[in-house]
Amino acid sequence: MKFTLITTVSILSTLASGLALPDLTPRGAVIRPDIAIVIKEDFPTTSFPTTTAEVSRSNGQHNVKTLLAFTVPACTGKCTVSFSDATTATGSRRMQFFTTGSPPTDGNTWTSKPYTNIHKGTFTTSSSGAGAATVVEDFGLTFDCPSTSTKYGFEVQPVWDNDSVTWDIKKAGFIITC
Ligand SMILES: *[C@@H]1O[C@H](CO)[C@@H](O)[C@H](O)[C@H]1NC(C)=O
Repeated sequence: MKFTLITTVSILSTLASGLALPDLTPRGAVIRPDIAIVIKEDFPTTSFPTTTAEVSRSNGQHNVKTLLAFTVPACTGKCTVSFSDATTATGSRRMQFFTTGSPPTDGNTWTSKPYTNIHKGTFTTSSSGAGAATVVEDFGLTFDCPSTSTKYGFEVQPVWDNDSVTWDIKKAGFIITC
């Protein structure tokens, strides 16, 4: 469903600008995260490596974010980041997706982690969490695939005062397709 809207917007923008915009449709090969590390404002020096990723915020406080690392094999063409099938989703159900200065590693914490780098896009899950999340901002969710196997780091942040999204990195959530 979401891709219908994106496609329409892309066509209109393309007509307006004359530039080809990225195709956000997931591609053939699915790459899941190598690791997820939850980091918590309330536990700033504790690392929470997990397969249940989480972003949350409660009344503007108690921030929880997730760091992700992906190894993308050599492939040709374009790679695209997408999100589907949250386990739970309440509040704004919105997630901002950033690159990190280097890939995260086990042991990272709220206060000790790679720096937050570039805001690549923002996703909103459905009200139940099921299905593909809607891309509400795209600042570069599609990129040239690497010509040699490359590790990428990302940080996912909550949006607005109340937000909670969890997902199982082994079967859902953020993936890269190429
Ligand atoms: C967030 O939730 C709190 C209660 O936990 C509520 O008082 C507040 O109004 C909510 N904020 C928004 C923006 O919905």
